[in-house]
Order: sequence, then C-alpha cells, then structure tokens
Amino acid sequence: MRILNDNDLVGKPLAGKTVAVLGYGNQGEAHALNLRDSGVRVVVGLRAESLSRPKAEAEGLAVVAPEEACVGADVVALMVPDEAMPTFVPTVVVPNVRPGAALLFAHGFPIRFGGLEPPEGLDVVMVAPMGPGLRLRELYLEGSGLPAAVAVEQDVTKRARHAALMYAKALGSGRVGIFETTFSDETEIDLFSEQAVLTGGVTRLIQAGYDTLVEAGYEPALAYMECLYELELTVNLIRRYGIRGMRERISRTALLGDLTRGDLVIGPESREGMRTILAQVRDGTFARELLEDERAGGERLRRLVEEAEALPIEEEGKRLASVAHGERGGGRPAGGSGDGPAGGAEGAPAGGSAGPPDLDDSESP
Ligand SMILES: NC(=O)c1ccc[n+]([C@@H]2O[C@H](COP(=O)([O-])OP(=O)(O)OC[C@H]3O[C@@H](n4cnc5c(N)ncnc54)[C@H](OP(=O)(O)O)[C@@H]3O)[C@@H](O)[C@H]2O)c1
Repeated sequence: MRILNDNDLVGKPLAGKTVAVLGYGNQGEAHALNLRDSGVRVVVGLRAESLSRPKAEAEGLAVVAPEEACVGADVVALMVPDEAMPTFVPTVVVPNVRPGAALLFAHGFPIRFGGLEPPEGLDVVMVAPMGPGLRLRELYLEGSGLPAAVAVEQDVTKRARHAALMYAKALGSGRVGIFETTFSDETEIDLFSEQAVLTGGVTRLIQAGYDTLVEAGYEPALAYMECLYELELTVNLIRRYGIRGMRERISRTALLGDLTRGDLVIGPESREGMRTILAQVRDGTFARELLEDERAGGERLRRLVEEAEALPIEEEGKRLASVAHGERGGGRPAGGSGDGPAGGAEGAPAGGSAGPPDLDDSESP
C-alpha cells in the first residue's frame, strides 16, 4: 500500500473552493478550523437549535443554516452523527447542493451500512482522520497532523480523488500520511478493530486480569493499578516504538513472560471469537443491531452501559481516581479506615508491587 504525503500533493489545497462543514461537534470543529487555517474558504452549517453556534462564531467562522451552506459549496463535509445521515442527506443536502459538488464523509458507515445511497450527480468521497477531532486540531497546531484514510465511492467529475486528497492535505494529514482505501474496508476495519482490540478487547483484558487477581485474594487496589493504570506505559511504548521496540525496552522478566504466556490469554478461542466478530461486521449483523436499537430509542445500549458501570472494578476506579490522575496526596480514602484496603491478601503470594519495576520507564514518553 502506498502512503501519500504532502510531497505527492502539489499545490495549495482547495484553492478558490468553498467547503460547507455541516455540524460543529467532535470532528466538525477541527475540520472547519484546520481547513480555514490552510487557506480554504469555509462556511459552517448548523441547525437553528444548535448550541455550537457561539463557539463557531467566536472563531470568526461564517455560520448559516445547513441548507444555505450547501448552496454554492464545492465540497459538503458531513460532520453530523452517522445515524442522522440517512435522513439529513436526502432532505437537507441533496436538494440544495449543485450538481458535481462533492459530498465528503469522515466515516464510511452511512454508505456501507446505514442504508444511504450515493446521491446521483455528486461525487462521494471520504476523509476519515484516525482519531478524535481534538487531536486532529492539536497536532495541526503543532505543525504535525493525524493520519487519515481517504476513499472515493462515486466519481462523477473525474476529480473526486483529487478533491478528497486535497481536503486531507488541508486537514494536515498529508504532513504524516494518507492511506487510500474504500468505504467498505474503512468501515469494516474500523468496526472490527474497536470491537476486537481498541475497546471490546482491551476492556475485557483488563477486567479479566483484575478479576483473576482479586479472586485469588490480592488487594483490588493493586490489581487495578497493575492491570489498568500501567497499561498506558505499554501502549505508549508500542505506539512509539512498535511491539518489537517495546520488547527492547522492558526487563528480561517481562519479556520472557510476554513471549511464553501471552498465547494463553489470546489463544485459539479468542482468535475464533475475532473471526466471528469480523464475520458479523461484514455480513451486517452488527450494524443491524445498532440501527435497530437506535430506532427503538437506545434502550438496550443504555442497559448494557448500566450493567458495565455496576462492576466492582468501577468502584475501585473511583477510589483510585486521584492516584491515577497523579494528584498529590491522592489515593487516601476519604472515609477513613472503613475505605481501607479491601480483600484479604492472606495466603496470597508475596512479591506483588504497585510500581512499574519491569518496564524501563526511563524510556517511556
Ligand atoms: N468522533 C470521532 O472521534 C470520529 C473520528 C473519525 C470520524 N468520525 C466521524 O465524523 C462524523 C461526525 O461525528 P462527530 O463525532 O464529530 O459527531 P458529533 O460530535 O456528535 O457532532 C455532531 C454535530 O452535528 C450536529 N447534529 C447532531 N444531530 C444532528 C441532526 N440530526 N441534524 C443536523 N445536525 C445535527 C450537532 O450539532 P448541534 O447539536 O449543535 O446542532 C454537532 O454539531 C461521523 O461520520 C463520525 O463517524 C468521528
């Protein structure tokens, strides 16, 4: 796969073009500001009841109704929630946008799974930054950028790819790397990776490690610190140096444990689970579940969140919040001894430690 950057993208991005950014939330705000600072003419489209209007106006951005923003726009950046798109695009955008303009998505979901058909006579492209809007903006201001995935779903002008790449350049993504893909692949990989690794996988890994230690009689507070708090060290090392580079920076003890015991955790059963997750993403089972729950008012998701919030690890997290956030004097239970160390450590093997002795944190970022 070729990864593009600014050296491949000649010229000032979207010079003389107008971009309508519809929505000013997580992504919309960062897109509007980065585009503006890259010299692109930006108009923000917000509905009448929007609470974001003062924030956008304070930045000196022109704010109008979404319908009005579409009129005369060369690119319409759809930064409203994915679940709103199947209604929003046909009713608000399509009747007002000129033929040959580009509709730009930040995620492939509405087209791949949301039931939204690419409207006739328009280019349909995607520029999906690989991270939240806040980071997109921060890195841009630091002179760097967030990588982005770019795709073309419909190209009526034969200029769709160029427009998408130039939009990515204006966001700052060309400073680091632009990955060309398809709407389907971006969506399927995104859903799979959050379910199997980034959120579903990692939370269950932490939870299972914590439960194992607590069930064996260790202090819940130490189990929390070792299984959750210290994860950041490993993640930062992996992100900065790769898995191999992380292994080069940990103790021989940690290294041997990693290489001989990790497969006991992520063994054949977990890998089979991942294949099931991927199959349910690809055949639309997961998307159907999501959309059905949204249509029913989100009751199932609310219940699942409540159940997860009631787990004992969350109680421990509350108790240790000030330690985890690095506040001086943190960790002392507010209520005195009654809140003291929980769980009988009697019989538990010695040698547990709250510190990170096995990771060479002098190397950590
Ligand atoms: N969040 C991320 O980290 C991330 C990362 C990559 C890509 N994306 C993609 O970026 C896109 C935008 O997501 P987001 O997270 O930025 O959304 P968001 O933070 O929820 O912001 C949505 C914006 O749309 C407006 N809005 C909400 N419902 C609307 C409706 N029915 N009609 C018109 N406007 C409406 C909201 O404005 P008011 O309520 O003020 O009117 C708000 O300004 C999505 O496609 C998402 O998948 C998100």
